[in-house]
Amino acid sequence: MDWEIQNHLEEIDGKLHIGGVDATNLAREYGTPLYVYNADRILTNYRSLRDSMEKHADRDVRVLYAVKANTSLAILKLLADEEAHADVVSPDEAKATLDAGFDKDKVMFTGTSVSNKDLQALTDLGIRINIDSLSQMRRLAGIGKFKVSIRWNPGEGVGHHEHVITAGKHVKFGIPEDGITDAFREAVDLGLEPVGLHQHIGSGMLDPEVDIFLATVDKTLQVAKEVSDIISGDLEFVDFGGGMGIPYFTTEYDFPLDKFSSGICRKVKDSGLGFSAIAIEPGRYITGDAGILLTEINTVEEKGVPIIGVDSGFNTLVRPAMYNARHTIIVCDKAGLTPDRKFMVAGNLCESGDVFHNKKELRALPEPGEGDILAILGAGAYGFSMASEYNMRGLPAEVLIENGKARLIRKRRGFDEMAREQIK
Ligand code: LLP
Repeated sequence: MDWEIQNHLEEIDGKLHIGGVDATNLAREYGTPLYVYNADRILTNYRSLRDSMEKHADRDVRVLYAVKANTSLAILKLLADEEAHADVVSPDEAKATLDAGFDKDKVMFTGTSVSNKDLQALTDLGIRINIDSLSQMRRLAGIGKFKVSIRWNPGEGVGHHEHVITAGKHVKFGIPEDGITDAFREAVDLGLEPVGLHQHIGSGMLDPEVDIFLATVDKTLQVAKEVSDIISGDLEFVDFGGGMGIPYFTTEYDFPLDKFSSGICRKVKDSGLGFSAIAIEPGRYITGDAGILLTEINTVEEKGVPIIGVDSGFNTLVRPAMYNARHTIIVCDKAGLTPDRKFMVAGNLCESGDVFHNKKELRALPEPGEGDILAILGAGAYGFSMASEYNMRGLPAEVLIENGKARLIRKRRGFDEMAREQIK
């Protein structure tokens, strides 16, 4: 089938297997909705990106896993054991990386609208801070003299949806083009030690957009040159951010990994700059296709259109409702069959936007039955991490598959857990 990924997602005897384990059996054993991750796939994704960069680079490479994509401690631990770096957006994400075993020198905070309380907590933890605004920089300098990097907005962004384009006009992130060199001058004047320059222009780029990304790499290297003059020396690193896309749907092509890596590394080499490390910050690329949401069908009924009602909703996976994201959907025990007809795959929340695909498109599936398990693919990044308890449906359980065996890595939350922190 076109969604199959060797050693990860396979159709065996007509049934979906994840890392060699029967998906329906997982759903029966752990209940639904259930997030399932394949450790081997996470590591394969991480290593392929790192190796591709290292193959082309003439200096150190830092791969910072963007923790926001999936913050589960068991997954963080896998990456800490690989000696990955980490990109965090809050003090608690920073604590999670330390708890999972990341070396604190390898963790960098890139936030926005950052409070003094967060700055204090991060500096207490000894986490590196990547500056997003002049206000943040001035308040940080009030706390102490730290090594910092500065994020700039290179003027053009990319993204699978306008919500995730993080550079260009009317964007809240980074120091604008006309102020970036002054920001470095001010950092020096404030007694901070600027060691890095950072960009992150958006999320979910695939082939044509990599060209836009590579054009911003040129601009960032030009700024790095000017910064070298200001600090009278080489920066320690330049960070080109994350945003590497994954194909969610059969019509999308794979991410052009070699074009991306060789493009960055060639430009860095040609720049003649002497900074020691090239950094990138992938989130989705590492965990996205490694995670699957399993959900049971409650109802199959004709209401003008054939509607499948499942036991999860946009509280479990918000991407279709929030970004019109198109996730591949499979009927686990009919994985070898060709689709019969089109259905609306709807959630169990009380909103009509609660569907798992673009509402106007419907989704072609082999004839599903009540009690069947659906697998929603590509749910490993920004799935659980964006889940909520809307309608008082507790956060789902998570399972990790390692060497053909599944283990629970997060318990399902129910009424007791939801009520526990409340005061009547
Ligand atoms: N670095 C920074 C500074 C970021 O803001 C992000 C993502 C990343 C790295 C990692 O981006 P990635 O490689 O995962 O594309 N919820 C949205 C995506 C939001 C991305 C936020 N920032 C989605 O589900 O598509």
